[in-house]
Amino acid sequence: MKLIFLGPPGAGKGTIADLAAPALGLPHISTGDLFRAAVKDETPLGLKVKGILASGGLVPDELTIALVEERLAAPDARSGWILDGFPRTIPQAEALERLAPADKAVNFEVADEVVIGRLSTRRVCRACGKIYNVRNMRPKQEGVCDACGGEVYTRDDDKESSIKTRLENYRKQTAPLIDWYGSRGKLLTIGGEGGAEAVFAAFRAALGLNK
Ligand code: AP5
Ligand code: MG
Repeated sequence: MKLIFLGPPGAGKGTIADLAAPALGLPHISTGDLFRAAVKDETPLGLKVKGILASGGLVPDELTIALVEERLAAPDARSGWILDGFPRTIPQAEALERLAPADKAVNFEVADEVVIGRLSTRRVCRACGKIYNVRNMRPKQEGVCDACGGEVYTRDDDKESSIKTRLENYRKQTAPLIDWYGSRGKLLTIGGEGGAEAVFAAFRAALGLNK
């Protein structure tokens, strides 16, 4: 199964993908995680995109498409994947159609005030990317990842000015993909404001996985 996760920043794409990927036996491919790993490792790509990520801007399509093309060629991505955060523009969606068309695009609907609240309280593991929230999904030991013992930190783009830019970019560049996939009969829309388990249950029901 080839799935795309759509939705504004903070909609819970990464959180639900972390539940869905092991359940479905699919790799969870997050372009944001791939870019953050490149920044951390100070690769040529990482050095190019570091400032863009911190400000909340979008990485140019050309670089993003090349990164995804390379990742989808890996052996674990042959029979399916969950793409989280890609495509994010119409040219990216067109490129994916040429590379490997998705079966469904799952759109998580969450109001702006909810995503702003979630992002300003999010923490993530610097080493493995596991997602936490200081309000309701804390690591057992403060600042230490439950999964790998890595450092739990606040993402550079979870500051007020970057969150605003990300939401603006989402509205302008990414939200049009909802109709783009809708008109191709591939769109599934899920309310993303319940707790993570409730949203995951709605996701399974929408895909007919509870039968
Ligand atoms: P990316 O990492 O994809 O960031 P994003 O799209 O802004 O999305 P987020 O990761 O912020 O939100 P999410 O929906 O995954 O929410 P999460 O599950 O963490 O991209 C980062 C940057 O990389 C971009 O800004 C851009 O610069 C670049 N980039 C990436 N892809 C690109 C592309 N295709 N083209 C160009 N540039 C690209 O949840 C958020 C918080 O809410 C967490 O604390 C979580 O614990 C909590 N939470 C989640 N679900 C629930 C729930 N149901 N109930 C309560 N709390 C919840
Ligand atoms: Mg994410």
